[in-house]
Amino acid sequence: MTPDRTPDLSARVGTLSLKNPVMSASGTFGYGLEFAPFYDLSRLGALVVKGLSLQPTRGNPPQRIVETSAGMLNAIGLQNIGVERFIAEAAPRLDDAGAVYVANIYGRTEEEYEAVARRLSGLPGLAAIELNVSCPNVKQGGIAFGSTPEGLSGLTRRVRAATAKPLWVKLSPNVTDVGAMARAAEDAGADAVTLINTLVGMAVDPRTRRPRLANVTGGLSGPAIKPVALRMVWEACKAVKIPVVGIGGIQSAEDALEFLLVGASAVQVGTANFRNPNACMEIIEGIRDFLAREKIRSVEEYRGGLLLPGERGG
Ligand SMILES: Cc1cc2nc3c(=O)[nH]c(=O)nc-3n(C[C@H](O)[C@H](O)[C@H](O)COP(=O)(O)O)c2cc1C
Repeated sequence: MTPDRTPDLSARVGTLSLKNPVMSASGTFGYGLEFAPFYDLSRLGALVVKGLSLQPTRGNPPQRIVETSAGMLNAIGLQNIGVERFIAEAAPRLDDAGAVYVANIYGRTEEEYEAVARRLSGLPGLAAIELNVSCPNVKQGGIAFGSTPEGLSGLTRRVRAATAKPLWVKLSPNVTDVGAMARAAEDAGADAVTLINTLVGMAVDPRTRRPRLANVTGGLSGPAIKPVALRMVWEACKAVKIPVVGIGGIQSAEDALEFLLVGASAVQVGTANFRNPNACMEIIEGIRDFLAREKIRSVEEYRGGLLLPGERGG
C-alpha cells in the first residue's frame, strides 16, 4: 500500500456493514444523544443504547458506582426510559443524526424480552437487537438466563422467532465455558455474539465495615477485565462461525487491535467513554494510523491474524 492510500476500516457483523469496527457499549453511552456535543454520532461504527425494558425502570438506590484500581464497579440496576419512550423520543433523533444504532434489551421473563424485541422491530433505523442475558429469570428462581446453555438457548430461540432484525447475544463472563455459551447462542439462531458483559465483583469499606455499593455486589468493567475479555473472545471465536464482537476494558486503538487480532469482527468501548468522551473517535483514528503505518490495506486483512507459538507470519 502506498503511504497516501487510506486503509479500509469497514467491518461486517453478519449482514450488517459498518463504516468502522468501533461501537460504544451499552450503558456507557446513554441513548447516544448525550454524546452528540462531542462528535458526529454518524462517525461511529455503531452505538449501542442503554439496556431497554418493557416498562421504564428507576434502577438501584445509590451508591451505584465505585471506582476500583484499573476499573469500576457498577450496580445501576438497569435504569432506563422504557421501550416506548425510546421509540417516541430517542430513535427519531438518532435517525436524524445519521447514527447506526443497536438496541440492547433485557427482561425479567422470556415474554418481556420478546415483547421488547417485537416493539423495536418496527423501527426502520434500528440496525440490530442485542440481548443482555445477564439478567435474573424470575420464573427460574432468579438464575441469570445467560448462566446456563439451556436458559440462553430458550431465550434466544424465543426472541429469534419474534424479530427479523439481526440478533446479537451478549454473553456473560460469569460462566465456566464461554465457548459452550457462544455455541448455544449460535445454535439458537443468533446472528452474532458480543462479549463480555461485566464480571461480578464487590468492594467493602474497612472502616465502616459496609459494602461500598448499596446492592452489595456489582459489575466490574474497565482495563482490569481486558485480559479476561480477550481470552474469552478468543475462545468464542474458535467455538462459533457467527461473528464475535469483542468488549472489555478497551481504552486505546492498541487494545482494540488485540481483539481484532484474535478474531473479533468489531469491538465495543464502554468504561473508557466515562474517562474520555472522545475515546471512540481516538480509537478509530488510532486503528487507521496503525494500519497505514504497517501498510495493511484493511481491517479485514488484519483481523484474525493471531500467530500462536510455532506459527510463522506471512
Ligand atoms: C455503568 C454501566 C452500565 C452498563 N449497562 C449495561 C446495560 O444496560 N446492558 C448491557 O448489556 N451491558 C451494560 N454494561 C456493560 C458494558 O456494556 C460492557 O459490556 C462492560 O462494561 C465491559 O466493557 P468495558 O470494560 O469497556 O466497560 C454496563 C456497564 C457499565 C460500566
